[in-house]
Amino acid sequence: MNTTDDLIAEPMHQVEEHLSSTLHGTIEEQTVNAMCSQVIKSGGKRLRPRLALLSYLCLCVDPSDHEMDRAVSFASAVELLHTATLIHDDVIDHANMRRGTPTLNATDGNHAAVLAGDYMFTRAFIEFNKIGNREIYNEVVATVTALVSGEIEQLREQGDLGIARKNYYRTIYCKTGALFSLACCGSAMLLGASDREIEALRDYGRMLGEGFQIADDIIDYSSSSPVTGKNSGEDLADGRVTLPLIIALEESSGDQRTRLEKAVKEDDLDEVKKIMKLTGALDKAQQCADTSASGAVKVLSVLPKSQFSDALETLAFKAAKRSF
Ligand code: FPP
Ligand code: MG
Repeated sequence: MNTTDDLIAEPMHQVEEHLSSTLHGTIEEQTVNAMCSQVIKSGGKRLRPRLALLSYLCLCVDPSDHEMDRAVSFASAVELLHTATLIHDDVIDHANMRRGTPTLNATDGNHAAVLAGDYMFTRAFIEFNKIGNREIYNEVVATVTALVSGEIEQLREQGDLGIARKNYYRTIYCKTGALFSLACCGSAMLLGASDREIEALRDYGRMLGEGFQIADDIIDYSSSSPVTGKNSGEDLADGRVTLPLIIALEESSGDQRTRLEKAVKEDDLDEVKKIMKLTGALDKAQQCADTSASGAVKVLSVLPKSQFSDALETLAFKAAKRSF
């Protein structure tokens, strides 16, 4: 176990217990609960609850049990919301594998998976509602709005090789950064922190999310499923134009550009990877991920320096390298 995990081992244990206990209901709910539990138990990095707890501990003067209960509830609710979005995302993306196990749409079909995602989404809202904080509730609503509009934008932009970097950054904010922002700034809101601290954690989450998503998009072109727990090449197959491809297109001209466009149309992953290598697209995309991580770390200077802010710093760099 590394030091970052040591710092929050106990509340993270409580988050796991909270997640399991949330997915118990009436006899009628048994099947859907079993489906959702299967996804929750498949693991994952639990990065969002870890960020929520560390953000909270950064600003909390008295981390007594009572105070930590609220933080654990919030961190668990964020993870439930995140898991609901993944269930729906895998249906949209026709993904068969996640976290090294078959997705719900693969095991139970699309219809049942959508319904299980809806159920998990409701469980998340029940938990957010229990926290009883209007400011957090508004932030949750804004986050879900961003998630949904980001996914719709991504669908509209499918296969569009002319997509500008700024559109890509907007999309990844919506689909990834917004939820990281919620995890971080929501914890500050729980404590009634100052606007300056709330904004700093919001920006930190957004930029950490950028680094995280760019790294995810790089892995889709550079790795194979045993490493990531997902199938690689899915972005190309589904027509998602992500930063590595945007950069390869920017850096290609003449014959090379024609070859690249043809390879994308024909879903020729090997040829696309070859041109990415020639253009240095993956390295350049990694530099963008690192720049986002550095930006995230910079805004942390607004918070009191502590072992918790140091841990947030470490996580921003790890997210941009996906080295958990
Ligand atoms: C993953 O992106 C995408 C998300 C985490 C966001 C998905 C959001 C929705 C489906 C809409 C909101 C849903 C609810 C329940 C409110 P990716 O496909 O690039 O990443 P991946 O490689 O992990 O699949
Ligand atoms: Mg996906």
